[in-house]
Amino acid sequence: MKKLSVDLGERSYPIYIGQDLLSSANLFSEVIRSSQVMIVSNTTVASLYLTQLSESLIEYQPRSYLIPDGESFKNLSVMQDIVTQLLENKFSRNACLIALGGGVIGDITGFAAACYQRGIKYIQIPTTLLAQVDSSVGGKTAVNHALGKNMIGAFHQPAAVFSDSKALNTLPDRELVAGLAEVIKYGLIRDEAFFVWLEENIEGLIARDTACLEYAIERSCINKAEVVARDETEQGQRALLNFGHTFGHAVETGLNYRGWLHGEAVGLGMLMAADLSCRSGWITEDKLQRIGSILQKTGLPLSLPDELEYADMRGLMSVDKKARDGELFLVLLKDIGDAFVTSQFDEKLLQFTVEHFTSKASGD
Ligand code: NAD
Ligand code: GLY
Repeated sequence: MKKLSVDLGERSYPIYIGQDLLSSANLFSEVIRSSQVMIVSNTTVASLYLTQLSESLIEYQPRSYLIPDGESFKNLSVMQDIVTQLLENKFSRNACLIALGGGVIGDITGFAAACYQRGIKYIQIPTTLLAQVDSSVGGKTAVNHALGKNMIGAFHQPAAVFSDSKALNTLPDRELVAGLAEVIKYGLIRDEAFFVWLEENIEGLIARDTACLEYAIERSCINKAEVVARDETEQGQRALLNFGHTFGHAVETGLNYRGWLHGEAVGLGMLMAADLSCRSGWITEDKLQRIGSILQKTGLPLSLPDELEYADMRGLMSVDKKARDGELFLVLLKDIGDAFVTSQFDEKLLQFTVEHFTSKASGD
């Protein structure tokens, strides 16, 4: 088992990565200081792992609250249902919530913990690759509004993160690959050596080699923890973690969040951002090809869905959270392992990039 730390002074917390952590009763008792514990999960994950986790927490006689599976349940109404459960069970301010599931469960449970009696403790037990390498670390919690994704939320750090690599055994292939997009992101934005390792080990990751997966989770979490420790509330460099997301969110929104997974949209978005970086003269053609090659090996979709053309994409991109006074900011690459945020890109080149990835593109 590996133990990392997110260093945030009094709010620092450990990230444990290893096998069978769902059964690690002794580790849970180091973190939980209350007899009031509620596990929040969804019906899919609970059917696989709730019994195992509940047995490890037997001394707390945990309650559990299950929500239906799906992004559409990450909303204020379901968050209020969680709060109602806490009130009906007379949970006090020293109670502890446990998020057992992917990013949807982590985000809504974290937000309920941030709001209940102005903030209670919670633990993240992420069960998707995306959640293990990204959403469980860093304290961004949120629910969606009908008019925008993650538009209601708070920064509220967990008390600990337990990433059990064995839980990934039951994850559908498509979800695993979507998580790999976020793993590759860390190599591209700030860790060139990790990118080289990923180029050499991508087949092992897709084949779910345990050692490869645990190393990728560890290295991703080290990168994320460093960024979060320096810029917890995204005043500066944390925005680099959104590499590929401006393009990707435009795809997700343009499709009404149906059809493509978040990681899939981010994978294509990263390639589009790399393409624009190359057209702008910031990265060389051979580096763009290396990026395209690793993404292609994962099997992630690498062209825009039929229904999205340049005008749709450009319109959707302008509502990005990084926009300031109507000006669009993008995360682009100066090199593999070196990203930067800029509004100084050429609009015409952006148009060429988007058109290059439309399904009707004939080359350039
Ligand atoms: P998800 O939570 O919807 O999980 C994907 C699917 O996998 C679901 O059907 C789920 O039930 C299932 N599943 C989960 N674990 C499983 C397992 N071990 N075995 C079998 N099935 C399993 O999706 P996700 O990709 O984990 O997370 C996406 C969410 O994360 C989005 O809402 C996104 O906004 C959020 N997110 C948040 C942050 C952050 O910093 N807070 C970062 C990135 C993404
Ligand atoms: N997933 C982006 C962030 O945590 O900042």
